[in-house]
Amino acid sequence: MSLQNWRRATRRLWSAFVAGAVVLSVALVGLQSPASAAGPAFTNPVVGSPNSGDPTLVHHNGFYYYVATTWSSDVVMRRSATIAGLRSAPEQVVVRTGGDTMWAPHLEMVNNRWYLYYSVEGFGAARRTHVAESAGSDPLGPYTSRGILNLMPNNGWAIDAALVRLNNALYMTFSAFAPDGLQSLYLAPMSNPWTASGFGVRVSAPTLGWERQDGAVNEGGFLLQRNGRTFLTYSASHCNGPNYKLGMLEYRGGDPLNATSWFKFPNPIFQRNDAAGVFGPGHHSFFSSPDGTETWIAYHANASASQGCGTTRTTRVQKISWNADGTPNLGVPVSTATVLQAPSGENGALPPAREIRNRHSNLCLDDYNFVTTPGAEVRQWACSDLPVQDWEITDAGGGFSQIANRHSGLCLDNTNWGTTDGATVQQWTCNGLAAQHWRVNPLGNGFSTIVNRHSGLCLDNYNFGTANGSEVRQWTCTNNNAQQWAIS
Ligand code: AHR
Repeated sequence: MSLQNWRRATRRLWSAFVAGAVVLSVALVGLQSPASAAGPAFTNPVVGSPNSGDPTLVHHNGFYYYVATTWSSDVVMRRSATIAGLRSAPEQVVVRTGGDTMWAPHLEMVNNRWYLYYSVEGFGAARRTHVAESAGSDPLGPYTSRGILNLMPNNGWAIDAALVRLNNALYMTFSAFAPDGLQSLYLAPMSNPWTASGFGVRVSAPTLGWERQDGAVNEGGFLLQRNGRTFLTYSASHCNGPNYKLGMLEYRGGDPLNATSWFKFPNPIFQRNDAAGVFGPGHHSFFSSPDGTETWIAYHANASASQGCGTTRTTRVQKISWNADGTPNLGVPVSTATVLQAPSGENGALPPAREIRNRHSNLCLDDYNFVTTPGAEVRQWACSDLPVQDWEITDAGGGFSQIANRHSGLCLDNTNWGTTDGATVQQWTCNGLAAQHWRVNPLGNGFSTIVNRHSGLCLDNYNFGTANGSEVRQWTCTNNNAQQWAIS
């Protein structure tokens, strides 16, 4: 099948899917209780690659705040009033760690300050857990480093830290290698949010069969408490395969720093769902709906059994329930085709979806080939109602706008900060930088020019194309028809 025919066939399929999803979501809306969410329905993943593994999601004062592994030296955060808006929410750098390959940031408030716990390598030194503290009550910071947590003897390797509040005391769960060589789940006492008052003790080792697939691992611990019961949920088996999954301990009384105080449930509580195309679900966090009535899980997963611990892991969310015996019921990871209602109490709405049509070609700005990974092309195609031609134009300040694609969740981007005629454009993870800032200049004739903040060049129908797939680039503004766009 030629590429053109593939695209036509794909577009027909998408058109049918979009129509079905609209019917289904209308049906679901009809089923909602009066007090339920006004937020927009969504499908997973809610955050696309690459900075989308090991997610922590919290809701605070009307917004969701999201952090995840970046593999760089930075911790970046997204903020959105809705779950559906996370995909195109710009990444904002909140901590420059000074280390390397930042993993698994955990975000939590203690005494009206936010704390970020994350692991980095120290350029040759062991990977250790660092902590940064916010200056005030804004999760976006600014943050000040509070140093390295002394969790293991001899400045030992320690990752996936998360706070545990139990019996009016503060602990830190984390993952480290025990003397027997097993990467296990540990718990350390904390005298304050940035100081371990003793080395960690092992509370769980990967001893059961389902904890040892592709590698024996216990990591990614996260606390879940309800009705006086305390569960410590964690990831088991190795993230480099499809059998990464969640297990659960329960605190059964006694000294939390004694492994005998923790009961391990004999079976996994959340694992791969091949029928839904979800593999290796894990390294999760839990968050409450805006009105506090629901508990949700955020986790990463792969779309193929052959993918592993890298940047293919995307972030998904879904609501959990509770069993009659009081234990959490996480269900099974849902398909990326499942339309989910927003968490209860969401009051935000998605920005309107705009069509951006070129005056010369009469074609629309288009996420070419439906790509959702950074570097995705932007071209022109016959106008349709598909999400690949839906653009969210939101204020970026200073008279500039961010222009994000609703299908990819990525932003219109001046590739590599070009400044010369013919400089290309692409879609890239939204980052709030000048290469993704565009000034929309209405010409008074129903059309506008769209000028990049960094290059000062106009968005341009390159070579006056008129066929599907015609290129879009940047060019010195001449305001000719190739640079005029109808935004509707
Ligand atoms: O994603 C990087 C690391 O890989 C995380 O810290 C750990 O949970 C996972 O196994």
